[in-house]
Order: sequence, then C-alpha cells, then structure tokens
Amino acid sequence: MSKGLYLYPKWIRFWHITNAVLFLILIVTGISLQFSGLDEPFVLVSFKSAVSWHNTAAFILVLNYVLFIIGNQVTGNIKHYRSNSTTYIQDLIRQANYYRRDMFRGEPHPFPVTEESKFNPLQRFSYLLAMYAGMPLLIISGILLFYPGMLPREIFGVSGLLIIDLVHDATGFLLSIFMVIHIYTCTLGSKPTTLFKSMVDGYHHDDH
Ligand code: HEM
Repeated sequence: MSKGLYLYPKWIRFWHITNAVLFLILIVTGISLQFSGLDEPFVLVSFKSAVSWHNTAAFILVLNYVLFIIGNQVTGNIKHYRSNSTTYIQDLIRQANYYRRDMFRGEPHPFPVTEESKFNPLQRFSYLLAMYAGMPLLIISGILLFYPGMLPREIFGVSGLLIIDLVHDATGFLLSIFMVIHIYTCTLGSKPTTLFKSMVDGYHHDDH
C-alpha cells in the first residue's frame, strides 16, 4: 500500500518541531516576565531564569526562522502559501463553513490535498499571516527590546519603549492564539492523530 503524498520533507519537520518547542518556552517565560512586576508576581519561572531562557530561545528562533524563509524559497514550498485563486474570499468562506457546519454533517473536505496544494484556504491564509507578518513583527520588536538604545525616546509623545513593548506582547499573544487554533484544526483529519503523524513521518495519510 502506498504511504500517501510526501508533503513534509525533513527540513520542514526539523524547522517545525524546533519552532514549536521554542514557542512553548517563549510563552512560559514570556508570561513570567509579563507578570513579574506585579505586587504579588505571578511566577512560572524565576525572573532571572525567565530572562535568560527567553533570550536564548528567541535567538535560536530567529536562526530557525531564517532557515524557514530560505528553505521555503529554495525548495519551492512557498507555493503552498501563495494563492492564485480568483475566488479567494469565497474559498475562505467555503472552508469556514466546512469547519463550522459541514464536517459535523460528515460532508467531504471541500479542498482535497494535492501535491500542488497541501493547505486548505484557511490554513494557507493563517500560515501566511503567522509566518510572513506575525513572525517578522515579533522578531523585529523583540530585537528592538533587546537593544533599547536603538529605539526613539518618544513616538508621537508616547515612550518608544512602551509602544514596541506593546507591539511585542500583542504579537506574541496573537501568535499564541494562532497556535491553539492551529493545534485544534490539526486534529480534524480523518482521525485526530492523522495530521500529527504527517508531521512526524512526512506523509499525508488522509484519503482526501
Ligand atoms: C505544539 C505546537 C504545535 C503543534 C502540535 C503543531 C502541529 C502541526 C501539524 C500537525 C502540522 C501539519 C498539518 C498541517 O499542514 O497543517 C503543522 C504544520 C504547520 N505548522 Fe504547526 N504546530 C505547532 C506549533 C506551530 C507554531 C508555533 C507555528 C508558527 C508560529 C506553526 C506553524 C506551522 C506551519 C507554517 C505549518 C505548515 C508547514 C509547511 O508544511 O509548510 N506551528 N503544525
């Protein structure tokens, strides 16, 4: 029996597992840093450890992100993030309708996986947004916070540090929400474990 389409080559699986583990470290240490200044601090990790773990994980995340960008270009995996559909919005709505209604009626996936198109329209849109807007914003704001001397003292009368801090925290928060929804939608294959298995062995195992 054939193993199915080979959609997740080794470099993607390496990038992805590294990214996921680093994200979990960054979330736990980021929450610790966020609430460390309270009168009664909410401590998951001590302040000192949180700073050093957060900075180290962020440094590796940036290198890993560079690997993702280069790998996507060089191998052509970027094609899955682009869409040349003339019905982009309708496709998004169709996929959303599948998630909110049609899948509960046992209807088939509206956009079957092919070698040319491994993501459904909502995946394509959310992965593009997360990887090509969210991640750069998170990384650039993080670098500016690491080198605060690079920041203007004030932006429109408001502390430059405060604005960049807000951008960094908000982007981190939104990407964390993305991750939760992402993990949920990854359970919606033919079995809850099917898509996770794909990220382990590289093969698409579903029959759609
Ligand atoms: C514990 C955390 C995570 C789990 C369990 C997980 C799980 C998965 C699985 C099963 C897939 C393959 C199914 C699919 O194509 O959608 C996948 C793909 C993907 N995930 Fe995650 N993920 C996690 C965290 C993240 C994070 C933090 C990001 C980005 C910030 C991310 C971005 C992506 C992207 C871009 C793909 C598609 C990669 C490609 O084939 O080009 N994931 N993930």
